[in-house]
Amino acid sequence: MAAVESPQGLRRVRSFVRRPGRLTPAQRRALDELLPRYGVEESRADVRAAFPGPAPLVVEVGFGNGEALVAMAASEPQRNFLGIEVHEPGVGRALRAIEDAGLDNVRVAMRDAVEVFDRQVRPGSLEQVRMYFPDPWPKKRHHKRRIVQAGFVERLGNAIGPGGLLHLATDWAPYAEWMREVIGELDTVFVNQGQPYVERPSWRPRTRFERRGLGRGHAIFDLLFLRR
Ligand SMILES: C[S@@+](CC[C@H](N)C(=O)[O-])C[C@H]1O[C@@H](n2cnc3c(N)ncnc32)[C@H](O)[C@@H]1O
Repeated sequence: MAAVESPQGLRRVRSFVRRPGRLTPAQRRALDELLPRYGVEESRADVRAAFPGPAPLVVEVGFGNGEALVAMAASEPQRNFLGIEVHEPGVGRALRAIEDAGLDNVRVAMRDAVEVFDRQVRPGSLEQVRMYFPDPWPKKRHHKRRIVQAGFVERLGNAIGPGGLLHLATDWAPYAEWMREVIGELDTVFVNQGQPYVERPSWRPRTRFERRGLGRGHAIFDLLFLRR
């Protein structure tokens, strides 16, 4: 069980398992060459300072191989995008795609999103958080690993400015229900914009995990919350 020591000395369960190895030489090269350029250093106290210019900031948590991140940054040039992901091969692929697309409004943090939100995101500094197909951890004994937990959602509420948005998507119906309940509890912070779900917003591109879910015959659930 991958629990880590938090600054408070409490043990925290992580929402991911690090699988070492399996980096192709091209992914290794992308990390070596491009992370210094597009990566957000751990020492930055405010992720906004890593961008070349000021613009509303959207964070994508758990971007996988960066398909959505790159497509959204290309189609929404009026925004800055910070992608957070721990899976090294995915970050390598995303960095290459960012470079190939010539995007200057994307930066990447290759770390646990919980730590980035704790240490590097200032209150009210985000316009939106987008989280697509987070690991559903379907077994009951693993539910504590789900990234959508009251504590993390509180951090998101703190980070998103008034009138901002929190957008999630999943193909796992019980997780959709879980998201609705956990975020619904914070009704002084977030207002559900769906009944309880919304149609897929035009800004969400299809990703590998969405295609996989559809291939298995799963329905797709989009949840959209307004930050009061
Ligand atoms: C099921 S994948 C979905 C990837 C992508 N969003 C998609 O739709 O194809 C979930 C991703 O979240 C990442 N992840 C899980 N917990 C994370 C955390 N605490 N911080 C950063 N990334 C995390 C995993 O490494 C994994 O790549």
